[in-house]
Amino acid sequence: MPPSKLKAALLASLMLAGSASQTHAADPAPMSPAVPGGISERQALVRANRLLAKMTLEEKVGQISQRFDIASLFPTGTPTPPGMPPLTPLDEPVRKGELGALLFVHDPEVANKYQHLAVELTRLHIPLLLGYDVVFGMRTMFPVPIANAASFDPAGVVANQTVAAREARALGIHWTFAPMIDIARDPRWGRIVEGAGEDPYLGAAMARAQVQGFQGPYIGAPGHIIAGPKHFVGYGAATGGRDYDPAYISDAELHNVYLPPFKAAIDAGAGNIMSAYMDLNDVPASANKTMLTDILRGELGFKGWVVTDASAVHNLVKQGFATNKADAAARSLMAGVDMEMSMAPNAFATLIASVRAGKVPMKRIDEAVRRVLVAKVRMGLFENPYVDVAAAKTVLDDPANLAAAQAAAERSLVLLKNNGAVLPLTPGAQKRVAVIGPLADAAGDTTLSLAFPQDAAKAVTVARGIRERLDGIATVETTPGVQIARLYPSPITMMLGTVKRWSADQANSELQKAVDLANQSDVVVMVLGEKLDMSSEQASRSDLTLPGDQRKLLDAVLAAGKPVVLVLMNGRPLDLTGVHDKVPAILEAWVPGSRGGTAVARALFGDTNPGGKLPMTWPRSVGQIPTYYAHNLSHSPEGQNTRYWDAPATPLYPFGFGLSYTSFTIAPPVLDKPELAPGGKITVSTSVTNTGQRAGDEVVQLYIHQRAGRASRPVRLLQGFQRANLAPGETRTISFTLDEANIRYWNATERGWVIDPGTFDLWLGNSSGADKHTTFVVGGAPRPAR
Ligand code: BGC
Repeated sequence: MPPSKLKAALLASLMLAGSASQTHAADPAPMSPAVPGGISERQALVRANRLLAKMTLEEKVGQISQRFDIASLFPTGTPTPPGMPPLTPLDEPVRKGELGALLFVHDPEVANKYQHLAVELTRLHIPLLLGYDVVFGMRTMFPVPIANAASFDPAGVVANQTVAAREARALGIHWTFAPMIDIARDPRWGRIVEGAGEDPYLGAAMARAQVQGFQGPYIGAPGHIIAGPKHFVGYGAATGGRDYDPAYISDAELHNVYLPPFKAAIDAGAGNIMSAYMDLNDVPASANKTMLTDILRGELGFKGWVVTDASAVHNLVKQGFATNKADAAARSLMAGVDMEMSMAPNAFATLIASVRAGKVPMKRIDEAVRRVLVAKVRMGLFENPYVDVAAAKTVLDDPANLAAAQAAAERSLVLLKNNGAVLPLTPGAQKRVAVIGPLADAAGDTTLSLAFPQDAAKAVTVARGIRERLDGIATVETTPGVQIARLYPSPITMMLGTVKRWSADQANSELQKAVDLANQSDVVVMVLGEKLDMSSEQASRSDLTLPGDQRKLLDAVLAAGKPVVLVLMNGRPLDLTGVHDKVPAILEAWVPGSRGGTAVARALFGDTNPGGKLPMTWPRSVGQIPTYYAHNLSHSPEGQNTRYWDAPATPLYPFGFGLSYTSFTIAPPVLDKPELAPGGKITVSTSVTNTGQRAGDEVVQLYIHQRAGRASRPVRLLQGFQRANLAPGETRTISFTLDEANIRYWNATERGWVIDPGTFDLWLGNSSGADKHTTFVVGGAPRPAR
């Protein structure tokens, strides 16, 4: 269709949108659009069932098929990049009703085009669900999830994902493949950046907050989208940290470590779940009935629909599990997958023949379709399938979005070292400031992109942030010093075109330039770490040192003898051997997002005070991996720190650690009663005081340990945290409530949740090394728990 005709058709369909339900005889009883509280699942079910009764098998299979709209990822007219399927839009399959959902559409006009084809031109006028990887921002990029976890601030995370949802919804997106809530204890794994780190309690808090932010008060709330927590389940346990490799997880570990964030997300109402790629205990996660049906639905009570990860059904053949794509589709569906996401034409199309051959029951197809239709009804798509193109701009241009991104970046900074209180720097005290490193002025690396539409060029780099902060009071110069790159380029880099590598001569002269700049400066801010393609999917590492020649650069700059502070930008803990001991101050900025440089500059110059804490145990070297604070005791706990004879077994920084420009004291815990009776509660109170000269945030953390029981339990477990902002001299009373949910655990012998009576240790403090100790007793008999 020529563009003018297409526009006219869209306009007509937009005008029809309000009355679409009247025009569609197949759907006689429309719901009233998003009433307060939304359309309930029961109401939606009535409508879904009515529709289902009219559907052909082909239409049903279409509804449970989702395809990549690859064309949406590239500017119109881009030739197909090598190794990619053709960039042909999916108009035809949509018009024929072969697809119920698409991913990657993020242009409101394209969204409306596709909806027009689905709503006006298919027999039953069923709108499409449009999904996208809105993981930590849509246009406005927030700090990466590991950074958000470092904020220990769930309310802030709700706020971030509310902005992300609003931007996405304005572009016509209904559903996000997020949050990524895989627990990860191996920093070699690239996707550790997308999650909340190693701890199930913190992971659950972040999962809950993200679902609330994305979905708002109910599914279908204006300006919100459906959350699709992923990847169910155990993807973070990839062997050797190698992305996609199999995971082997015991039943106890699965329940006690990997499932809690999913439980929290489901309890928070997540509408969708994405199944993972990898083999879990020898069965691919996207065809794993134990996980997708018995546990996800049976134990966790999930009611929404399950989508596979991209092309995971096709992959079942490659994984040596299914004989062909029909076998793969049937077994994945029967295991509990409701919708197939695919890059290639859907394997689920084979379900038509499988049903006809009696190999797959229609009942199971109906169940899957019903779940998808319920989501569409609850999102109000039958009443309002289209997006208001003009309004999108207003939402995306709202300056509040960037302000929120800046606040989020500020909350996620972690001060790892500050010897001699070298930070904060006094603005203007040093007249010549050098900002050196391959990430110092790299806008694209200041935000991490999982997909493409954010405007990386608009990100504020650290160099720019400092320049703006010192405008008129100091000169700020920047140079990269070295160039860093992956040994094996990432698929994204290959698609976008690889950057030309410096020649040996150029590398020498760039390094010299950095040294000269350091020599001419009064202070040097080094910005080192990992580029955007060095973490996330297909970005695992075997070594955690600073990539490339960054250590050489640091040493050369340090030799200039000027004061140096180090800002790290990275998606995972790094091996800081030969770095940590040489610089007096280290600020962990993660991948800080659109306003990252502003946030970093404000912290370096004391406008704000870093208050984030590490959501990961930070190893000294790759040889310590996996290392996490919640390990079990052994028969020789006194030897814990010297388990290796060639290096300390202690981490470089413990989980929960982070410094501040001020100092705090945390008072010993006071319990309202010494015993947690069956069904009872204990209130733990303390106070936290800012004993220094600056305002700042402290995260008060509560850890417990079961001394004895039917299983050995971790030496410490986080079971509460609160972040408090305190003026100098201010004291705040803080209380935590403990109940049976905090002490229950999954017992592999009992194959269920249990509570063991006896003595528990309790510590309060500002890291997993918390030292304000008391005990409490769990009363009653050994019992099952819910
Ligand atoms: C990733 C998912 C992502 C999907 C769609 C997959 O390769 O594993 O996390 O949601 O692609 O982009």
